[in-house]
Amino acid sequence: MKIFSGSAHKSLAQEIASKLSIDLGELKVTSFPDGEIGIQIMDCVVGEDLFVVQTLAKDPNHYAMELFIMVDALKQALCRSVTAVIPYFCYARQDRNYKGGEPVTARLLARFLHTCGVDRVIAMDLHTEQLEGFFDIPVMQLRAKELFIKEIKKLSLSNPIVVAPDVGSAKLASRFADDVQCGCAVIDKKRGSGQTIAMGTLMGDVKGKEVLIVDDICSTGQTLKQAASLCRKEGAKSVYGFVTHSLLSTWENETLDGLFVSDSIEQVDDQSIHLISTADLFSRAMKQSLQYNIT
Ligand code: R5P
Repeated sequence: MKIFSGSAHKSLAQEIASKLSIDLGELKVTSFPDGEIGIQIMDCVVGEDLFVVQTLAKDPNHYAMELFIMVDALKQALCRSVTAVIPYFCYARQDRNYKGGEPVTARLLARFLHTCGVDRVIAMDLHTEQLEGFFDIPVMQLRAKELFIKEIKKLSLSNPIVVAPDVGSAKLASRFADDVQCGCAVIDKKRGSGQTIAMGTLMGDVKGKEVLIVDDICSTGQTLKQAASLCRKEGAKSVYGFVTHSLLSTWENETLDGLFVSDSIEQVDDQSIHLISTADLFSRAMKQSLQYNIT
């Protein structure tokens, strides 16, 4: 078992490798004058089962291309299999042609991974469950929920309720509610563009309760902020946020009593955010995935 890391989030790859008591594989990443990416694998990988860790955030086009090129280089070097470990799978929100004339980028990315030789994928909290159906290779989907539930237990809440900030997160919220053993509410969010949203009705009663807002992605932070404000307006006693993939660069924490995010995407050091490590989750899944034989 060998792990190679792309440039997107080296500290996570390093942490995963430490959990597995192995060193990261050696490779050289260069850049041609016109911006093309060059890769050279420095280790012998003949006949080996390899993992490439690359999260696809912040500069997704560059990091996706880097991943494709790395996988191609590893395949050229005659490895046995490559598992792409993609903590944050980008382009997932464009998963259907909704307005007409739109691409299905989630499927496109899944196809590219297959085409460049990836044998299987380990990802976490894909934007929608059915996205797995876009892949012709096995996908192992991990859940940050198990990490967040541990944090929720530490809060010792007396009357919690899980809130989905939009209908798309209702399933996720319902799963959280099952584990926390509490009720669930949903907000009818309307999206204008990538930057603008409007909160509609809150379906459920949050009065006097400790609200746990759960979402897979936080991008501009508007969803989280407006959902929290609405819950407060409706009488919530406290409001916490739990987000798997945070694309935020800064967070002003005035609307939440606590924000918990996973490290699927590299985060800037911010004391007001509780950063939850996913390294253990990924390392266990990677070990487990080797039990399935790929020839
Ligand atoms: C939407 O479907 C996602 O689950 C998130 O709610 C959304 O991406 C959050 O975006 P923002 O932080 O920009 O409101």
